[in-house]
This record gives sequence, structure tokens and C-alpha cells, in this order.
Amino acid sequence: MSQFQGPRIAIIGIGKVGAAVAYSIIHKQIASEVLILDIKEDFQDAQVQDLRDSTSFGISPRVKPATWKECGQCDIIVFTAGTNQKGGESRLALVQRNISVIKSGFEQMKPFGENSILLMVTNPVDIMTYFALKYTGLPPSRVFGSGTILDTTRLKDTIAQRAEVAPRAVHAYVVGEHGDSQVIAWSNMAVGGIPLDQVLPLDADEKHEVAEFIRFKADRLNRVKGETSFGIGAVISSICSAIVLDERNVLPLSHFQADHGICFSKPVILGRAGILRTLDIKLEDSEVASLERSIAKLKGVVVGAES
Ligand code: LAC
Repeated sequence: MSQFQGPRIAIIGIGKVGAAVAYSIIHKQIASEVLILDIKEDFQDAQVQDLRDSTSFGISPRVKPATWKECGQCDIIVFTAGTNQKGGESRLALVQRNISVIKSGFEQMKPFGENSILLMVTNPVDIMTYFALKYTGLPPSRVFGSGTILDTTRLKDTIAQRAEVAPRAVHAYVVGEHGDSQVIAWSNMAVGGIPLDQVLPLDADEKHEVAEFIRFKADRLNRVKGETSFGIGAVISSICSAIVLDERNVLPLSHFQADHGICFSKPVILGRAGILRTLDIKLEDSEVASLERSIAKLKGVVVGAES
């Protein structure tokens, strides 16, 4: 039979995060095929079969197990394999373990498809995105990580609850590290296009409370349930949708910043060719200082991992 022509999305690693990503992509109906790869073959097979059971009620994609080489040819390769953080453990504690996981995966996948986009989810995602770029040799426009889009989602939800509006009416960005040094761009926040201060004035203590709630949300959930999965699932399927439909959506993604020589999140315009442009948001002096600290921290980790 001939190959299906629509978008093909591969998911590497089908643990709790990979499975939530797969489920969300399947039910967004944006792919013709969803390919699943996990190094535990019986687990891979069981997850594929379970996911297939969810596809009978509409025009869902075909879900099937795949080899490394087949995954390397997909339009989007979502890399979730690796160890996740345990409760109380920082995302950065995972660096060396997960660098070996991604490196070995890329070696087995090569050569990549001519237009393949590699979307990193494995934590610490900013560091993994940097090493993905280095080890794959793909252009920076086609290698990026989920970054602070999940923190931004959490921020929008928190502000929306306080302002009693829909989360999608909140325009906000978290930038920098997807981790403890992340920075909220308070000076750019708006509700329905109106500056935040006019809709929901927050004092310094309230802002601090919101920032800490978001910064440590994953950690709080990890301590209780061992992982976070549904949020990242929805985030990744939205990123994939922006790519395959060439939406030109603006999302804060972790990507290579030539000025700094590392990867961290800033808003980008995302379409079928990957990152089309980084949008430079103007930050207040205190936010710039926080972002610089976040960048310095990530640089330190990269230098440490490379030495
Ligand atoms: C989180 C994980 C995916 O923030 O990093 O939930």
C-alpha cells in the first residue's frame, strides 16, 4: 500500500508524558499518522494498542509502533524520552542522564527528513534543546523545546481566575528557563488587550505569590502524583497544530539565541517551516536583570555539561 500523505508525527518515549502528548495529538486530529517509539517494546506495543482503542469515534490518525529510522523521517519528532524529576529534585539534576538518552536516540534516527522538525520535551528542556541542536546538526529554526509555554499557560490560568475571565483572554509570557529561574514579563501582560494594571491591579506581594505558585507548580504536583502530563500534552499538541497548519501562532518556545550561545524561551512566530522569527519583548529593568540571571544559570549548566 502507498504511504499516507498527510502530516506524520513521531513520539519518542511513551511513558506518562509521551502518552498524554500522543492522546492530545490524536484527538486534535492534526496528523495523518502518529508513530510511537519506546525502548521497552512490550510497553510500546501495549500503549499503541490502548491509544488505538481511542481512535474509533471520528477521523482519527493511524497510530502505530515505529523504528528510530521511521521516526527520523516524520514531519515532527516529539522527543519525550528520559528520566523525569522526582519530587524535590530540580529539572537540572537530570542533565547528564538525559543527554545520553537523547544523543543515542539521534544517532539511531539519522538521517533526518528534509523538513523534519524536532520538538524537545525531555527535561531540563532548555539544556536538552541546546544539545539536540548540537548533536543533530539540524538548523535552529527546526529544533526547539516546549520551554516556558507550559509556565505561560499556568500563568494565564492563574491570572484568569483572579480576574474572572477566560484564560485565552489573558495575554502574558513567562520567559527564560523552564525551571526555577523563569521570569514573568509583568510589564507586557494584558487582559483582553487592556494592560493588566487597569483590569487587575496586583501589588508586589501578590505578584510574588503568583510567580512562586507557577515556579513550583510542577514540583508540587510531582511530589504527589510523580509526574505532570496533561498540561504538557495539551501544550505539545498546540505546538504541533501551529506547525502542521502553518498557523503563525506566537508561542514562548525554548530556542537557540545566537547572542547568548544557549537555548531559552522567548516568544516566536511558529509555522510549517518551524521558527520564523523571535519576537523581542521589551522588559522593565528588573525583568531584564532577572532574565540575565536566568541566562547566566543556564550557561553555567551548559558549560558544566560540556566539560
Ligand atoms: C512541567 C514539566 C513538564 O513543568 O516540566 O510540568
